[in-house]
Amino acid sequence: MGGESARGKVMAVYHLKGGVGKTATAVNLAYLGAASGLRTLVCDLDPQSSATYYFRVRPRLKNAGKVYLKGRARVSNNIKGTDYDRLDLLPADWSHRHLASALGRVKRSRKRLQEIFAPFRGEYDLIVLDSPATATLLAESIFVAADLLLVPVVPSTLAARAYANLRAFIKRKGYDEDKVWAFFSMVEARKKMHRTTMAAMKEQFPRWLRATIPYAADIESMGLARAPLPAFQPAGTSTKRYRELWEELAALMLYRGE
Ligand SMILES: Nc1ncnc2c1ncn2[C@@H]1O[C@H](COP(=O)(O)OP(=O)(O)O)[C@@H](O)[C@H]1O
Ligand SMILES: [Mg+2]
Repeated sequence: MGGESARGKVMAVYHLKGGVGKTATAVNLAYLGAASGLRTLVCDLDPQSSATYYFRVRPRLKNAGKVYLKGRARVSNNIKGTDYDRLDLLPADWSHRHLASALGRVKRSRKRLQEIFAPFRGEYDLIVLDSPATATLLAESIFVAADLLLVPVVPSTLAARAYANLRAFIKRKGYDEDKVWAFFSMVEARKKMHRTTMAAMKEQFPRWLRATIPYAADIESMGLARAPLPAFQPAGTSTKRYRELWEELAALMLYRGE
């Protein structure tokens, strides 16, 4: 990134809903960001710690609440390298299930994550938050901390409702709706219902990324490979789609007006 004032950007992959491809997206986009030359930190905020698993990191966090609430040194001490150049990970473990309630016990709790990540914007060009499916104080802290909130939306009827709920939640709480960008995830282009749902949702809500991610077996196989998809399928068709998604996001976050 050029320019003296260049500061790392925080992108959160978030949804109220689980199983929509958040972690797969966070892991693959972080990999692509690092591969494009950005110093990248993935921050796993989910007690299920799937991102941590994909990167083959064993966390030894004593207490996630303390790590996040006791300041910069604690966070730094817990950052681990990965097998990939320029790509670091702040892992999660089961203690992360207490993070929302730990946040609730501190002052200005909604701003806390933003404050925690502020100094790391100097060390990293890109910070990717992999969020749990939650609508707690942790979710609100993520809304505040993120420059861009990336929401994977599966084009099914129930998932469309969940996205409408999320938009209403963000609006009701007064968070900046302009930083919410969505893309269609796990798309089955042969399903007519997916096609009609996508068209209807594009009418209803703004800011859809053009790239879509298909429902694909190679993406599912990341769990066996325990690696980002572009690392083991660099020329695959699904990798191509993640690259398209990454290009759009990079243009939005990194190169706009600088
Ligand atoms: N595009 C996709 N196509 C097929 N399977 C996917 C895709 N994205 C994710 N998966 C699989 O679906 C499950 C949930 O994905 P995950 O990324 O963990 O979702 P979330 O983080 O939103 O809960 C995982 O088993 C994952 O391997
Ligand atoms: Mg996940």
